[in-house]
Amino acid sequence: MTYSRITGTGGYLPEKVLSNHDLEKMVDTSDEWITERTGIKKRHLVSDDQTTCDLAEQAVLGAMEMAGKAADDIDLIIVATTTPDQIFPSTACLLQKRLGVHGSAAFDIQAVCTGFVYALGVADKFIRTGAARCAVVVGAETLSRIVDWTDRTTCILFGDGAGAVILEASDEPGILSTHLHADGSYESLLTVPYGISNGLDKVLEKEAFINMKGNEVFKMAVNTLGRIVDETLEHNQMEKTDVDWLIPHQANIRIIQATARKLKMSMDHVVVTVHEHGNTSAASIPLALNEAVRDGRIQRGETLMLEAFGGGFTWGSALMKY
Ligand code: COA
Repeated sequence: MTYSRITGTGGYLPEKVLSNHDLEKMVDTSDEWITERTGIKKRHLVSDDQTTCDLAEQAVLGAMEMAGKAADDIDLIIVATTTPDQIFPSTACLLQKRLGVHGSAAFDIQAVCTGFVYALGVADKFIRTGAARCAVVVGAETLSRIVDWTDRTTCILFGDGAGAVILEASDEPGILSTHLHADGSYESLLTVPYGISNGLDKVLEKEAFINMKGNEVFKMAVNTLGRIVDETLEHNQMEKTDVDWLIPHQANIRIIQATARKLKMSMDHVVVTVHEHGNTSAASIPLALNEAVRDGRIQRGETLMLEAFGGGFTWGSALMKY
């Protein structure tokens, strides 16, 4: 049986940092409020001339180096992003050119904060079926471009960044299962209601911003993430105690703590990076994974549970042996 296995990870955060104290000068908020309600202390923002593809490229180069892979080895590129550089080519195709890869499949996936888990699920299926042997899977976002910096209810939450993995065919597990879900009927709770085909004028006037009913999103996220953890363990006939590391989407420390409580997991086994970069949407899980792999917390053979929830609503999980 062929599994897909992570052989390299990478992450990149842009240099520019916006702290909670910086935000105090922009909107009516405080470091204390943001820290208590979200756990976020700072976020990284792209400069005017940086794009999603720039961030993705840096993250992927790190992952390729760790995996010992060259451009010729790669036969699939998937970029999860809500903030692509251009309408087309896809960010994955732009990235393919930067990496010097020719002829591989390359496409974007848009599932907002669940994007990386969706991309991982798709890449896993390519590899299991023999359609690919070495995939680049990236979550990359420049969310700062769709944040209303005068809206204190949203601007404190989001940041820019990218995280990536190299996923390779292997006889050893690997990804055990992925679980992807969506329910579009919740569109109004979390949305940027404009785009190319609907309200292009708002996009051009730079008025296409994240709109969110935070409190309702919070409750849905906590309940849904608890359910998906149960679904994932049941599917694999595993117990909560079998999971070594929870690597959650980094949106809010209180959502992360609530999921950890449901798993009866001590926070010592939960990878938390939300304080460093806020909610970077599709980039947040691979950024957290990369940090814990590189600092030696996550060891080969350990069992990892990845889970995410985001606009759509979309939600998903991946259980794997690292
Ligand atoms: N600074 C200070 N006060 C703020 C504020 C800010 N940045 N943002 C909102 N407030 C105020 C509100 O106006 C409200 O004031 P009021 O009681 O006078 O009306 C009060 O704080 C409480 O607002 P509420 O929205 O109930 O707070 P909350 O505890 O739900 O926290 C979020 C708000 C956004 C932090 C929280 O709901 C959340 O994280 N939701 C999930 C968001 C998310 O993760 N989205 C992405 C999913 S992938």
